[in-house]
Amino acid sequence: MTTPLIVIEDLTKSFQHMGQKLEVLRGIDLVVEEGEFLAIVGPSGAGKSTLLHCIGTLDLPSSGHIRLEGRDLVGLGSAKLAEVRNRSIGFVFQFHHLLPEFNALENVMMPGLIQGRSRRQLEPMARALLEEVGLTSRATHRPGELSGGEQQRVALARALVLSPKLLLADEPTGNLDSATSQSIHELFFKINREHKTTLLVVTHNTAFAQSMPRVVTMRDGRIHADERRPRTEARAEPVEPVVPSVRAPAEAEPAEAAAPGDDVVAASTHHGERDADALASE
Ligand SMILES: Nc1ncnc2c1ncn2[C@@H]1O[C@H](COP(=O)(O)OP(=O)(O)OP(=O)(O)O)[C@@H](O)[C@H]1O
Ligand SMILES: [Mg+2]
Repeated sequence: MTTPLIVIEDLTKSFQHMGQKLEVLRGIDLVVEEGEFLAIVGPSGAGKSTLLHCIGTLDLPSSGHIRLEGRDLVGLGSAKLAEVRNRSIGFVFQFHHLLPEFNALENVMMPGLIQGRSRRQLEPMARALLEEVGLTSRATHRPGELSGGEQQRVALARALVLSPKLLLADEPTGNLDSATSQSIHELFFKINREHKTTLLVVTHNTAFAQSMPRVVTMRDGRIHADERRPRTEARAEPVEPVVPSVRAPAEAEPAEAAAPGDDVVAASTHHGERDADALASE
């Protein structure tokens, strides 16, 4: 049996707020196998983003364990955490946080450029990903010259440029109209299928969640339900590719190990006050 990609044991997270202890995660146990595609759903305030941030090493849990490929992340120093994050995890958030002064191609390459990789090495991969998300003709557009859906597709390509094993997405289509959301949802299926990337997606979109093979429902800091169904049931129709398919970047060029301690990549690929705090404390 292979080691699961993620094993979470009795994970808790509390915040101190105005002298009061706020228990946001109250003992989470979750196992995610490599290649899974799962939705995390639940009411606002249930702790979904907090859980995702803990898994993504953007936030530190209060107690418990998170094992990524068998390695316990809890207790690792900030440099090691940054190394794990850069090497294994990609992020997509509700707001894309592309860098406005750089074009789409440069934004996709950015995590690698920050790590000191050359443009020559990164460009073929970035171009292949832009083609995969249907944006070849927009490579030289800056974020301000792209639609909301196009911006989010660039963010998705950026999250994949270092070929992460795990992609974490927090309401990736929360800010988009339904037709645009639908095309992004299709891309998530395609990424899972073709790149074999393990996907954890927090979403309030019921139809999207129900189309995934596994749906984890959180309530009040706990896992309330964990439903699995055969992929054929989850997704009766094979998904038509929305854009021409290209070979997976992982096959195109092996990714190098991330430079230890390079945490700037995450800064360019995530957002949020708590995230910034987590990084600032590193
Ligand atoms: N830094 C913080 N300090 C204090 N409380 C916090 C902090 N961050 C989050 N919380 C609280 O933790 C709870 C869970 O927040 P979280 O962002 O994980 O919820 P969520 O399930 O993602 O909700 P939503 O669907 O609205 O995004 C909320 O009640 C929130 O107010
Ligand atoms: Mg949230």
